[in-house]
Amino acid sequence: MTVELDDVACVIQGNTIFRHINARVDGGMMVALTGPSGSGKTTLLGIMSLLMKPSEGDVVVNGESTLRWTDRQRRAFWRNAVSFVYQDYGMIDEETVFYNLTFKHKHYNPKRNRLPKKLSRLLSETGMSGRLNDLAAVLSGGEKQRVALVRALWKRSAYIFVDEPTASLDEINRGIVIGLLRQAAARGACVVVSTHDAALVNMCDRKILLGGAESGK
Ligand SMILES: Nc1ncnc2c1ncn2[C@@H]1O[C@H](COP(=O)(O)OP(=O)(O)O)[C@@H](O)[C@H]1O
Ligand SMILES: [Mg+2]
Repeated sequence: MTVELDDVACVIQGNTIFRHINARVDGGMMVALTGPSGSGKTTLLGIMSLLMKPSEGDVVVNGESTLRWTDRQRRAFWRNAVSFVYQDYGMIDEETVFYNLTFKHKHYNPKRNRLPKKLSRLLSETGMSGRLNDLAAVLSGGEKQRVALVRALWKRSAYIFVDEPTASLDEINRGIVIGLLRQAAARGACVVVSTHDAALVNMCDRKILLGGAESGK
């Protein structure tokens, strides 16, 4: 499992966001896309996860160029191999936490619904076990962040892309989230986070710095 950036550039409406980005992420590794606000972290995460096409260069997945991938190939990649956690968490506010996790059941009833072991463990590690029947709308930003992460990690995806995973978390929850992401890498996933949190960058195996000399700006 690998994803490589081969001389990637992003130019939006004549404005160069970054250029000449070369990097490689292997399974088992956690990599940080870092740099100041507006330096292109979210944009590069979008390019690496094939949500956006680079203006120049190539994203190489498992040794295969994705330049000519069809929408169908990209969708298969997302479905079979990818988990995303977006900065706005991607929660459906008017549904329960349980629905947001399963996309199946409106309410959690311990007599009727058996929680898969992995889900149950992730919920208790994030302190969200008692919140399954709460509407997503009532959760704080940090709680939504943790639910979004549980949803992403539960899938056991090969590639995990997370935008600012620790942005709205206090010290304790930040430690929990970093621990969970490291665990995902330890079982072999490619974990890519965009972040300006120095503590998180320090916990990564490699960093890709944007908005500096490296970005070619
Ligand atoms: N769709 C878009 N249209 C125009 N400008 C964009 C678009 N997406 C991103 N940008 C610009 O690209 C730059 C990088 O944005 P972003 O990737 O969100 O940075 P970061 O995540 O590091 O804060 C910003 O200046 C932003 O305004
Ligand atoms: Mg961003």
